[in-house]
Amino acid sequence: MDWGMKNRMAQIIKPNGRCMFMPIDHGYFLGPTNNLEKPGETIKPIIEYSDALFVTRGVLRSAINPDDSKPIILRVSGGTSVVGGDLANEGITTSIKEALRLNVAAVGLSVFIGSKYERQTLLSLGKLVDECEEYGIPVMAVTAVGKELEKRDARYLSLCCRIAAELGARVVKTYWCEEFEKVVDGCPVPVVVAGGPKFDTELPVFEFVYDGIQKGAIGVNLGRNIWQHPRPVAMAKALYSIIHKDATPTEANEIFNETNE
Ligand code: 5RP
Repeated sequence: MDWGMKNRMAQIIKPNGRCMFMPIDHGYFLGPTNNLEKPGETIKPIIEYSDALFVTRGVLRSAINPDDSKPIILRVSGGTSVVGGDLANEGITTSIKEALRLNVAAVGLSVFIGSKYERQTLLSLGKLVDECEEYGIPVMAVTAVGKELEKRDARYLSLCCRIAAELGARVVKTYWCEEFEKVVDGCPVPVVVAGGPKFDTELPVFEFVYDGIQKGAIGVNLGRNIWQHPRPVAMAKALYSIIHKDATPTEANEIFNETNE
């Protein structure tokens, strides 16, 4: 691995081999999502618990302070919306030149395996990897399912992660599922657990993140379960303890209960 690639990977994955990514990219297809209407305000109290922000160039330029930022994973796929035809019909929205200009640590793109747009999104991943490898920029592939959340089982997700890694992704972000070890074991690059819609209570979140880490995930990319929670700092702190301090779900829950914000 060349120095630039190594350095960028080290920016997003900490020396203990773990990472806590904070996604605030939801507006790229959802518009002004609840509690993310003003992304700069949303992240202020929780940014200290993030190892990297997953964000589009528009929000990066308008809401993130360049003098005091965490490493950036730039979302470079899109072109669809929640009111449009099909969320899977994504393409590459942002050039490699723009990623370099913004001095990003990595880029992220969604693939929609099993959808009508499987081929298109996988070819986009291949193209993006070709360009990014030339400049030492890691690509994070996101195994997306659009509105079909029921697809998320170990058989499907292990297929998706393996394909994304085969096409050159340096990191793969995927959903947690039962038998998550099958997903991690079949994937030759690091796997990061995605969040998904907000849970009604905290403990199930701590449990699936803990299980994912125990089964080999290196961290999370988790947004709504933190910043849509009435106590986002408590959620961020508790999750940080699971990822970086090997806390159990019960210990994380104690940290949550002790934190008022
Ligand atoms: C959308 C994404 C988002 O980054 C992702 O949804 C993570 O956030 P959350 O935990 O809120 O689901 O990749 O495809």
